[in-house]
Amino acid sequence: MTMKKEYHIIKIAEPFAPLLTEHKRIKFYYGGRAGGKSYAFADSLLIKGRQQKLLIACLREIQESIKDSVYRLLCDRIALYELNDYQIYENKIENKITGSKFIFKGLRDQDVQHIKSLEGVDIAWIEEAQTISKRSWEILEPTIRKNGSEIWISMNREQENDPLWIALAAHPDERTLVKKVNYDDNPFCPEEIKIQAQKCRQRSSEDYAHIWLGEPVRQGNNKLIASDVVRRAFVSTILSSSSPLIIGLDVARFGDDQTVFCFRRGRWCYAFRCYQKLDNVAVANTATNFIKEYHPHRIFMDIGGQGAGVYDILKDRGFSEIIRGIYFGEKAINEERYFNRRAEMWDSVQAWLSSSPQVQLPEDESLFDELTGINKKYDRRGRLQLEEKDEVKKRLGRSPDKADALALTFAEPVYDDGEPQIYHHGQITYEDIFKSQRERSNELW
Ligand SMILES: Nc1ncnc2c1ncn2[C@@H]1O[C@H](COP(=O)(O)OP(=O)(O)OP(=O)(O)O)[C@@H](O)[C@H]1O
Ligand SMILES: [Mg+2]
Repeated sequence: MTMKKEYHIIKIAEPFAPLLTEHKRIKFYYGGRAGGKSYAFADSLLIKGRQQKLLIACLREIQESIKDSVYRLLCDRIALYELNDYQIYENKIENKITGSKFIFKGLRDQDVQHIKSLEGVDIAWIEEAQTISKRSWEILEPTIRKNGSEIWISMNREQENDPLWIALAAHPDERTLVKKVNYDDNPFCPEEIKIQAQKCRQRSSEDYAHIWLGEPVRQGNNKLIASDVVRRAFVSTILSSSSPLIIGLDVARFGDDQTVFCFRRGRWCYAFRCYQKLDNVAVANTATNFIKEYHPHRIFMDIGGQGAGVYDILKDRGFSEIIRGIYFGEKAINEERYFNRRAEMWDSVQAWLSSSPQVQLPEDESLFDELTGINKKYDRRGRLQLEEKDEVKKRLGRSPDKADALALTFAEPVYDDGEPQIYHHGQITYEDIFKSQRERSNELW
């Protein structure tokens, strides 16, 4: 009996199809470990090299020996698929039929003379592109100048400001394809890898996001709030609390921001109520309804922007015992440690999240992004400061309204001094409010 020979057919996973089917100046693939980038690039290039004569340059920042390069991977794929039309040399690979050629180079030590040999390149594959320096890219880009030439990039993001990411992918133009692929997009992903990824996920969501989901490490790890503590607070363990209710109110400043009410009782933050495009009176009415219905001890609100108008209305309605106006920019209670009030409040959120017993937040991905999206720095006096709101906004695409509302619930310590007096055990009605206003105005008359 003769053994039936098994033939391997090259299969390109779906996310990588554009490597073969589309023409783009830049094809930028990024993601975490085991997304299938290296294999798909190698296979696709081997297919292309059999279709027509191409000069293909496999590039990386540093290549001390050919062993550092994707040469080995290409050789393995050629052997597996038995692509006998490819001839393997010591430091290049050629296709005997089409005349295609693969060359392998490190960019760091290339001077302008050497790099000229890349001028005829049809496809340049930059592997491990997170390590490419700005200088290398500036020399390389104009060198790949042949009509119709393409630059293929595979990257596992390292920092937020990886030079090639900033140059090509952060704001891609129409000649650039940017695609993220992770292990869970890779149909060939080995089981062992999936197990490792899950283990990592349980251990640290921050590591998981970087290693397996291809998220960059925040620069110098200067995040104020770590992902782990937020994820931990998303696990529901608390169902009620007798601590006084504190509401943080962040009033929208601009058209696309939201007005957010955050409800917290001690360790238990249980709700966010968000509203878009409410005018001051409508925000004040919503606050009034919450006061009447839920009897908060305090509502802390930002009065730096639009909030000032709402604050005036609420005070005028007789809620001055409950409402406290806060300027984010004003000086901190503990001036020695904090640059301003906002930094102080956010740091209280951070301390609260890390405290034990465990605190709780409603599970909410946008809240997660906001809380973990803010970087800290220190001023010249060594006081904690938050990065500028504009910076956060650029990265997040919006302002961190929910997180600010949560931070506001920490504006001042609130002591449980029994039922608040001002609204007579919650019995106050609109009529009472407006009657008392009328009475007051009568006195004035
Ligand atoms: N076409 C394929 N055929 C068979 N297995 C594949 C194929 N593509 C990927 N794999 C499997 O998936 C694994 C990960 O692929 P690959 O190494 O290309 O990912 P990557 O995105 O380059 O990841 P890394 O960041 O780890 O370099 C490979 O080790 C291999 O086991
Ligand atoms: Mg790889």
